[in-house]
Amino acid sequence: MAVVLVAGGTGFIGSHIVRRLTADGHRVIVMSRNPEKARGKVPAGVEVRAGDTTDAATLGPVLEGVEVVVSAVQFPNHPVENPRKGYTYIRVDGEGTVHLVEAARKAGVQRFVYLSGAGTREGQTRPWFIAKLMAEKAIRESGVPYTIFRPSWVYGPEDRSLNKFATFARLLPFVPVIGSGKTRVQPLFVEDLAQAVAASLRTGAAINQTYEIGGPEELTMDEIIRIMLRVMGRRKPLLHSPAGLMKIAAWPLQFLPAAPLSPGAVDFVLMEEPVDNTLAQRDLGLKLTPLAEGLSHLRTARR
Ligand SMILES: NC(=O)c1ccc[n+]([C@@H]2O[C@H](COP(=O)([O-])OP(=O)(O)OC[C@H]3O[C@@H](n4cnc5c(N)ncnc54)[C@H](OP(=O)(O)O)[C@@H]3O)[C@@H](O)[C@H]2O)c1
Repeated sequence: MAVVLVAGGTGFIGSHIVRRLTADGHRVIVMSRNPEKARGKVPAGVEVRAGDTTDAATLGPVLEGVEVVVSAVQFPNHPVENPRKGYTYIRVDGEGTVHLVEAARKAGVQRFVYLSGAGTREGQTRPWFIAKLMAEKAIRESGVPYTIFRPSWVYGPEDRSLNKFATFARLLPFVPVIGSGKTRVQPLFVEDLAQAVAASLRTGAAINQTYEIGGPEELTMDEIIRIMLRVMGRRKPLLHSPAGLMKIAAWPLQFLPAAPLSPGAVDFVLMEEPVDNTLAQRDLGLKLTPLAEGLSHLRTARR
């Protein structure tokens, strides 16, 4: 069992990883920019240390005694960037990871596990891919043994994406969908991703390996929402809005505090990047949860 630092351990995916690794018997430490707030969010017995990946000077002390780093960091209000506050892909996902892996190298960390994203490969030009490529490159060149995951869209009880549709389904007479609804995705249950991360620490096969990982079904956005409605026991029509129109509407919204949308965010949600689970299945013994099963919390949730 190892001493594992989870950067972003207070976040959606990070908190599942923290619970999984704790249950597996690892000594887990969570890094947070706001340790006071974080202490109320982490399971009993989990240590919290203050650190900010955009401030390299904070990272040395955080890494003292750490054997494994899991990086699940994302800027607040993703996917809407806020350059004024430094909440951008390049600053947080790109440069922040470069700082963290460099600090991990100096601290003699034995494994760096990074949550990249589906579709990350050379030649991509969107800012989120440029940042993920910057991060992946720094990790591979660091000399620290690594495992990189490239997950597709992740959902779960606390996500901020699929849950929005569930809220719309409860409050509105229709469910609004950006674009044609034909974008294909492989929704991945958050607990399956946490299991994969935990499994990667148990097998030597995962060292210096990059895994694509997605859910067991490739579905259109419309199919996903219809499955969600069925699980919720609701019937609502879907209302599609053309992506071009949404980008125009989103332009002024991006300047609001906690902006709900931006033109870049519209592009992000409409991205179609299929993944191949073969390698992850082979090395990590994945059991992938079908969407209807992964959404079972919506059955009992308040209607
Ligand atoms: N969600 C998805 O569908 C999905 C799909 C593919 C890949 N991913 C990747 O998975 C990772 C985690 O995503 P998520 O959705 O779980 O994110 P999230 O819920 O937004 O959580 C991100 C965490 O990052 C921490 N954080 C933010 N800025 C930081 C900084 N400068 N320094 C240190 N910590 C910082 C925050 O912790 P504090 O506020 O406590 O500091 C927060 O708990 C990201 O790298 C993302 O690209 C996500």
